[in-house]
Amino acid sequence: MTAGSAAQRQSAQRQQVQRQQVQRQRAQRRLAYRLRRAAAIVAGLVVGALALPVVAIAQPAGPTQLEASDMALFNGVRQAGLWEMPAGQMAAEKGNQKRVREVGAEIADQHVELDKLAVEAANKLGVQLPTEPNADQKAWLGEMKNASGARFDRIFIDRLRAAHGAIFPVIAAVRSGTRNETVRELAQEANDFVMTHMTLLESTGLVRYTNLPPANLPPPPDGSLLAAAQANDVPGSAVNGSVIWVVLLAALVVGAVATFRVFRFR
Ligand SMILES: [Fe+2]
Repeated sequence: MTAGSAAQRQSAQRQQVQRQQVQRQRAQRRLAYRLRRAAAIVAGLVVGALALPVVAIAQPAGPTQLEASDMALFNGVRQAGLWEMPAGQMAAEKGNQKRVREVGAEIADQHVELDKLAVEAANKLGVQLPTEPNADQKAWLGEMKNASGARFDRIFIDRLRAAHGAIFPVIAAVRSGTRNETVRELAQEANDFVMTHMTLLESTGLVRYTNLPPANLPPPPDGSLLAAAQANDVPGSAVNGSVIWVVLLAALVVGAVATFRVFRFR
């Protein structure tokens, strides 16, 4: 072997070593890049999965349909006005006691105001309101027309106080549970009016409490809402626990595939 050929072989060996070093560096850079990409994919999916419930709960549930209870409030408030306005005017004109006349005038005036609120809310939601009192209310108005003196006062107070006691829990139930903001506002207003009217009627000293129906309490809460919240399956939420687990599982599968591909190409 000549000195020249030995030098050529050494040069070739050095070049091969350099090529191998370059290839190793390239492979390391590719590996690092693929690892970063796989980590970013997995991290993005996990973060997205964790954010899903928050986003879903924060989003509005869309247009709210009126419930039967909402309509009960509309009909009750409207029909209360349709018979209490003439009843109050009658009391203001022919009440036997001065306080009955005062209370009748006040109730009639206040129902003009409440009726206006009910009509405005109904127009806003496209609700059709009754245009006349119900059969019972018409009959009570007939009783009052045919009565006079102390008998009129008795009928006026008895009928109106009983009617307010009947609608009061309906308004409270709607105020507590309605999903509609306009209905909630109307229920709040109506609650104040009804409470005021009961107080006015009672201020005459003519209310016979023992003749009123006894208090009818609603059933106690069963804790179902609390249980649903603890199960992360709150009614109204668009995403439940099962969906979150599916997304997390998908993230793990994608991560595993990406990792496999990274090491396969090494
Ligand atoms: Fe009233």
